[in-house]
Amino acid sequence: MTNEGGCTFGFGAVNCRVTKFDLRLGDCVAGMASLKAKSIDLVVTSPPYNLGIRYGKFSDTADRKSYLDWSETWAAQIHRLLRPNGSFFLNVGAAPSNPLLPHELILRLRKFFVLQNTIHWIKAITLPNEDGGEMSRGHFKPINSARFLNDCHEYVFHLTLEGKTPLDRLALGVPYADKSNIARWRHTRGSDLRCRGNTWFVPYETIQRREKERPHPATFPVQLAVNCIQLHGLTRTKRMLDPFLGLGNSAVAARRLGLTSFVGFEIDDDYLREAKGRCSRFAARSVGIDSQ
Ligand SMILES: C[S@@+](CC[C@H](N)C(=O)[O-])C[C@H]1O[C@@H](n2cnc3c(N)ncnc32)[C@H](O)[C@@H]1O
Repeated sequence: MTNEGGCTFGFGAVNCRVTKFDLRLGDCVAGMASLKAKSIDLVVTSPPYNLGIRYGKFSDTADRKSYLDWSETWAAQIHRLLRPNGSFFLNVGAAPSNPLLPHELILRLRKFFVLQNTIHWIKAITLPNEDGGEMSRGHFKPINSARFLNDCHEYVFHLTLEGKTPLDRLALGVPYADKSNIARWRHTRGSDLRCRGNTWFVPYETIQRREKERPHPATFPVQLAVNCIQLHGLTRTKRMLDPFLGLGNSAVAARRLGLTSFVGFEIDDDYLREAKGRCSRFAARSVGIDSQ
């Protein structure tokens, strides 16, 4: 595939269009209030989960009611900013001590959004292999418990204003395992590509030194945000928002796919510095790749 600039892009590749970044230090609720209503096509974000995670500056230990009340304040802003056919992908995880949190949050947000899809972000999985054995892929944080299982997934809730936002399902398409389906189903129109469905295996990249390479306790992989952007549709995503930027993995995804414009907020200056560094390092690297 080629864009107007003549650069090649596609799965895992880099678009040469330069994204205009607006990455701001400060509280996202106040920050979003300063943006124009209905100016955002796509939101991909992961807020603090209120699970007592040790962030640099933010305290993740509110009581349940205060946390849910606060969540309504940022969700109200996202609701105000989203264009009618926009998508809001909300990544939230749970903990054994707090298994209902994602569901309680989503029930609260029903006053603003329709839950159009629920996606399971699979971080680690074990599958049968062809020798009759099993193989494991991905990473997870082991839980030392006689009661609770290791937690190998999180949610990505796809929220929209009316539940009718069209998606580019085949942008994340996968080939049919049974090729006879191509002829059997008329909707395939002869193409060997089916909708991936709502289970996404997206492992973290393997790193050697966490402090240096991923200095944040709760990130998502760039690929998770890439999937969300592609599913919403590249041509329909002009301006993207992440109110809880962390290390800026959503911003790097936007750059990788050559989105026109990205706005993000982060309350911690160390994380924001790292996010800005990643965006410019990535931009510098991709200019090198594109110009070869
Ligand atoms: C779960 S992390 C997001 C991580 C991000 N998705 C990544 O991959 O790096 C949530 C982030 O929200 C930030 N944060 C907390 N309260 C905030 C607020 N009111 N406004 C902006 N950022 C906030 C925290 O400092 C933390 O970095």
